[in-house]
Amino acid sequence: MKRRSFCRLFICTSCLFMVGGLSAQEARRNTKFVPKALWKDTDGEHINAHGGGVLFHEGTYYWYGERRGDRTSSGGISVYSSKDLYNWKNEGAVLSPVDNPDSDITWGCVMERPKAIYNAQTRQFVLWFHLELKGQGYAAARAAVATSDTPTGPFKFIESFRPNGNMSRDMGLFVDDDGAAYHIYSSDENYALRIARLREDYLGPTTEDTLLFRNHREAPALFKHRGKYYLITSGCTGWDPNEASLHVADQLFGPWELIGDPMRGGEAKKTFGGQSTFVLPVQGKKDAFIFMADEWRPKKLQDSRYIWLPIQMHADGINIEWIDEWSLDYFN
Ligand code: GAL
Repeated sequence: MKRRSFCRLFICTSCLFMVGGLSAQEARRNTKFVPKALWKDTDGEHINAHGGGVLFHEGTYYWYGERRGDRTSSGGISVYSSKDLYNWKNEGAVLSPVDNPDSDITWGCVMERPKAIYNAQTRQFVLWFHLELKGQGYAAARAAVATSDTPTGPFKFIESFRPNGNMSRDMGLFVDDDGAAYHIYSSDENYALRIARLREDYLGPTTEDTLLFRNHREAPALFKHRGKYYLITSGCTGWDPNEASLHVADQLFGPWELIGDPMRGGEAKKTFGGQSTFVLPVQGKKDAFIFMADEWRPKKLQDSRYIWLPIQMHADGINIEWIDEWSLDYFN
C-alpha cells in the first residue's frame, strides 16, 4: 500500500516539470522575435542588456548591454550568449562599478551603450562604452575602454578619456573588412557626429578623427553592405523616441548623404517608440541584418524593452518596417 502511493507521488512530481511532454526549459524556448514584449533569458528573467550591441565569435553571439536598476546611475554592463539569437543565457556582469571613490567607474557613475569587438592580433575582447563620472550628470562625456581574454569577461577597466579631446556620449563601434576598427560618437553637446579610426590594438583612437555631420544626432548604428556604409541615428530627445534618419556613404570618412527616415508602418515617425542602438549582421544568411533599438522606460530603466526588426535591403536603399512578430525565416 505504502509503496503504491509513493509511486503515484513520483509520477505527479515529474509532471510538474513537464508541459505538454516538454521540459519547462524546452517549453520556454523562444522561436520568434516579438518587438516590445518582455524578453526572457533562459532562466526566465527579463533580459537586462540595454543600449547594447552584439558580437559574433566562434559560433556564438554575445549581447553586451547596460545592466539597469531603477536609477539612472549604472549597475554595470552585462553579457548574454546565444547560438540562435532567440534564446539568451545570462553570462553575468562583464564590468561593474567599483567601491574605490578615486576610480572613474566608482559606484554612481553611468555606463551606457557598451559595444565589444575582438582584436585578432592581440586576441583580446575590447569593450568600449560611454562613461559619465559620478555626480556630474552627463557633463563628463567620455569614452571608456576595458579588455578581457574571453567574451564573457570579467573585463578589466583600462581608462576613460575624451577622444582627441572631443566630448563623447552615445557611441558605436565598427570593424571594417580589413580589420580596422572605428569609434562613431556624438560630440560637441551631441551637435556633431564624429568618427575616429582606432589604434591597431583597439584601445584608443588615432588622430584620424573626422566630423561626419552636424545634424544633432545620436544613437549611431553603422553597418556595411556590398561596399556601402549605412548609418542609422536618432534625434536628441533624451529617453523619448523621435524620428530616425539614414545616411549612406562610399567611404567611412564621408561624404555621407542624408537619405531620410527609413522606418515604415506603425509608429514609424517615432522609430516605433524606440531608439537605435546597433545593426546585427545575421551569420550564415545572405543580406540579413537586424535593426536593434531600445524602447526606454525611464521611470524603471530595467523594464525598457527591445525592438528588433529585419532590415529590408533594396537596390536604392533600405527600409525597416514594423512587424508584430517574426523569425529568421524572414530572410530566406
Ligand atoms: C539619450 C541617449 C541615452 C541616454 C539618455 C539619457 O539621448 O541616447 O543613451 O544617454 O539620453 O537621457
